Amino acid sequence: MAMENRFKDKVAVVTGGASGVGHAISRRLLAEGAKVVAADINKDRLDALQAELGDSFVGVKTDVTQEAHVEALVGEAVERFGGLDIAFNVAGASKAGTIINLSEADWDFTVDLCLKGVFLSMKHEAKAMTKRGGGAIVNVASLNAHVPMYSGSAYASAKAGVEMLTKNGALEMARNGIRVNAILPGLIETPLTAGLLQSEEITAAYMERIPMGRAAKPEEMTGPALFLASDDAGYVSGASLLVDGAWATSGYPDLSRWFS
Ligand SMILES: NC(=O)c1ccc[n+]([C@@H]2O[C@H](COP(=O)([O-])OP(=O)(O)OC[C@H]3O[C@@H](n4cnc5c(N)ncnc54)[C@H](O)[C@@H]3O)[C@@H](O)[C@H]2O)c1
Repeated sequence: MAMENRFKDKVAVVTGGASGVGHAISRRLLAEGAKVVAADINKDRLDALQAELGDSFVGVKTDVTQEAHVEALVGEAVERFGGLDIAFNVAGASKAGTIINLSEADWDFTVDLCLKGVFLSMKHEAKAMTKRGGGAIVNVASLNAHVPMYSGSAYASAKAGVEMLTKNGALEMARNGIRVNAILPGLIETPLTAGLLQSEEITAAYMERIPMGRAAKPEEMTGPALFLASDDAGYVSGASLLVDGAWATSGYPDLSRWFS
């Protein structure tokens, strides 16, 4: 449940803020008093959100794999709202394929977006937060940081990288007053998984493995993510919080019947 003033006048950057988890986080931050600068490649969706959400929300077309874009994004947050306090690095997607079949371009797409994008975001967010005397960064990794997925080598490797990048950030940035943590979601109903979950067979294979027997709604990621950015987590840094309906206790489904 939203706590009305928890992030009153805090300035937040949310990458991937136009859809799914990033969109849910942006809305909850606004409900809790923050100013939100949402970054996404989907300009139309950002424009629609900006029209709906008013002056506390700014959408900035950003490709997180491009350093100049990320630098400009953080610059926009500073210019518009005076600085940066908290950041949620959510943008992500993947191209699937077994290692034998995966093209170099598809590997690069996934790793650049899911891992380099988080590195570039952390780098520029942390510079701005340091000027403000500190802050908090929350990266969105995945259960796949711990558990491999058939045809998902690039994604799982990148997400494992995000978890380590989070710990490295926590180590390096503590002296700047910045905490860095990650959430590791299980299965969430978003546009990213809509295609997959259209198949009853694949959905059943997932549900066999997820002890809570359902996928999460994007909104169910917001409580854990905002907690890590809040003062209640003031002594939490370098942590990985599984938000997966106990899925990590039972392992991943065998997707080899469907993917090659
Ligand atoms: N949906 C799941 O089951 C699930 C599970 C574990 C982890 N995650 C992770 O959660 C995060 C959010 O995923 P989601 O399910 O909300 O997906 P989504 O597709 O709904 O949202 C992702 C957003 O990222 C944006 N994006 C893509 N490439 C970008 C780029 N280069 N620069 C900036 N923005 C870009 C997209 O336009 C989109 O708005 C991802 O990092 C994903 O890997 C999702």
